[in-house]
Amino acid sequence: MKIIAIMGSPRKNGVTSRIAKGFLERAETKGAQTTSFYLNHMDFKGCQGCHLCKSKSESCVLKDDLTPVLDSIVTSDILVFATPIYFWDVTGQFKCFFDRTWSLVKPDYTTNPQPARMDPGKKALWISSQGEEKEKYKEVVDKYTGFLTMFGCETHSIRAFGMGDGPDQEIGTFLDQAKNMADQLVG
Ligand SMILES: Cc1cc2nc3c(=O)[nH]c(=O)nc-3n(C[C@H](O)[C@H](O)[C@H](O)COP(=O)(O)O)c2cc1C
Repeated sequence: MKIIAIMGSPRKNGVTSRIAKGFLERAETKGAQTTSFYLNHMDFKGCQGCHLCKSKSESCVLKDDLTPVLDSIVTSDILVFATPIYFWDVTGQFKCFFDRTWSLVKPDYTTNPQPARMDPGKKALWISSQGEEKEKYKEVVDKYTGFLTMFGCETHSIRAFGMGDGPDQEIGTFLDQAKNMADQLVG
């Protein structure tokens, strides 16, 4: 089983990265192969809106550090998306990445029952963290997981809340959720 994690926080040891690592480490004990991509340490552009992926090319024509990430999405079984909430949404790094997944959508996506250029049935795990209470930003998660559902993924989520920007946030409850999620998704 192949798992990739796309880390949207600039903080490599922040809340979302640590929760994602908890999931990946548990998955590895069950034999999964995992790869992590830290967006903040990569060189890439956002979607250029050229729409060549809808006319002349089956993939994004931009060739940069996101190219292997987009390729890996297609070939992986479980996709982990981890991002903090910044200004009521995902981080800029994550949004730039997510816009590029437009290249994974088929030209006839509005009518095609399988609108994405990937096999349906992948599992997607959304991990987000925020300073404010749990009730806030549910709509952000719904928005992005909605797209993942459109891509044919079975979606799951872990949402950390009440998390400051300090280095030692107590994430025990959310780590437990991540390990349980690995047991559930990897088996
Ligand atoms: C620029 C910036 C914007 C933020 N905006 C919000 C926000 O709108 N709502 C919120 O609840 N927390 C906000 N936060 C707090 C982070 O979401 C929170 O500290 C999160 O746990 C950080 O995740 P990380 O440790 O994975 O980087 C913001 C933090 C930063 C640095």
